Amino acid sequence: MRRAIYPGSFDPLTNGHLDIIQRAARLVDELVVAVVQNPAKNALFTLLERQEILQECVADLGNVRVGSFAGLLVDYVRAQQAQIIVKGLRAVSDFEFEFQMALLNRNLAPEVDTLFLMTADRHAFLSSSSVKEIASLGGSVSDLVPSYVEGRLREKFGLLPVPARGQRVERDS
Ligand code: PNS
Repeated sequence: MRRAIYPGSFDPLTNGHLDIIQRAARLVDELVVAVVQNPAKNALFTLLERQEILQECVADLGNVRVGSFAGLLVDYVRAQQAQIIVKGLRAVSDFEFEFQMALLNRNLAPEVDTLFLMTADRHAFLSSSSVKEIASLGGSVSDLVPSYVEGRLREKFGLLPVPARGQRVERDS
């Protein structure tokens, strides 16, 4: 059984993450998307919300499940009896930090390999932080995240839902 862990903050999930999830799922028997529990990071969505969002968006992928972890990633990888850590690379700027993390993780767990997948070029500029900034300022993120995530962002920022196609928007005069 070849099992891989795709760890991250997923605050929130973007189309870039989803692309990596779909491609990694084709390479392994089981992919666990693992949301990190890191109280030091001021996340917009709670751990449960981030897991719930992921669950909703990967529901159609049969060999993907959602988990969470606190502490060292390699401890979680071992506990899940996985052999691979999946990471997405957007640009050269990601490489140095990810390379360092991969070497540190290999030092801690030599039996675990990090597998880097290049993101699709249309997602190379995409990050959860920019998605949050655009959404918080009322901009459209419909090309950047699944529509379910867009809805959750609008709800979080107290914005009106995007009207369904053909639906009239009533305005106060
Ligand atoms: O989506 P992110 O925030 O870039 O994900 C970062 C993550 C969760 C992959 C990274 O912070 C991590 O692995 N945290 C667990 C702590 C750990 O194992 N640290 C040692 C590796 S250098």
